[in-house]
Amino acid sequence: MKYTLVTGASGGIGEALAIKLAKKKHNLVLVARNAEKLSKLSKQLQETYGVQAAYIAADLAKQEAPFQIFQETRRQNWEIDMLVNNAGIGSGGEFATLNLQSELDLMQLNNASLVAMTHLFMQPMRDRKSGTIINVASLAAFAPVPYMATYAASKVFVRSFTEAITEECKPYNIQVMLFAPGLTKTNFNEAAGINNEKGAGLNADYQTAATQTPDEVADELLQALNTKKHFHVSGSRNRLGSRIVALLPNAMITRFMAKSYQKKLALL
Ligand SMILES: NC(=O)c1ccc[n+]([C@@H]2O[C@H](COP(=O)([O-])OP(=O)(O)OC[C@H]3O[C@@H](n4cnc5c(N)ncnc54)[C@H](OP(=O)(O)O)[C@@H]3O)[C@@H](O)[C@H]2O)c1
Repeated sequence: MKYTLVTGASGGIGEALAIKLAKKKHNLVLVARNAEKLSKLSKQLQETYGVQAAYIAADLAKQEAPFQIFQETRRQNWEIDMLVNNAGIGSGGEFATLNLQSELDLMQLNNASLVAMTHLFMQPMRDRKSGTIINVASLAAFAPVPYMATYAASKVFVRSFTEAITEECKPYNIQVMLFAPGLTKTNFNEAAGINNEKGAGLNADYQTAATQTPDEVADELLQALNTKKHFHVSGSRNRLGSRIVALLPNAMITRFMAKSYQKKLALL
């Protein structure tokens, strides 16, 4: 039986997407760390939409997690024909003051695990000559972001990696899509520790900037998928922003962002 695997499905964009996919009769494998939330959601999706909804509780900041997840899907005979690499975490504040291990864990989750999941699940898709892979990046993938240095760099990696494999996958009938949300009202800042004094300037941004809801973002993702897009920035203002940023030199953007962050911090 065919399944869609969504990482980061216990909350935010991943949860909203899982609900919408269940409505569209996708069988699901939900992945995140919080087993209690996943268990509740999978039961709710099975009862409400009559689909199969399984879950695997795993910490994708651990190197072995993608291999364990892949093995479990093989053991259960779940044919994963759509993979959504959505799980991700941020970090904010002056780089030198951030916890190094947390920054390395961020890279493991946002990058190394995403690469491993893509590699593992792509093999059977190539054999079947069908499949879909969606990698979730961010507006931060369009320019370096001072005081969010590692996070933004991790999303630049996701963008470059995904755009490259998009072409490699075409002969195998695997649709690859890079999806970039902008600021979205989720638990993201809380999880990233941006709501503390180190990320206070960034948090102020988050509160005042235009944001989408996870529901709106999930709708855009599915629309982009339906129209066979390989690349989509969520939200019309975000799309415009990404186009403007692409025209400006990185040095100008980083100077402006750093100054505005420092000013906000001084005002707090
Ligand atoms: N919110 C925004 O403003 C925004 C903007 C641009 C891009 N994005 C991207 O959108 C994606 C989803 O973020 P979100 O806003 O929905 O954030 P969120 O509400 O914090 O949700 C993140 C999801 O990832 C899971 N997760 C976190 N660490 C994990 C780990 N070590 N192993 C496995 N799962 C883990 C979380 O579940 P557990 O805690 O249960 O593990 C949760 O289900 C991320 O890739 C993020 O970078 C978000």
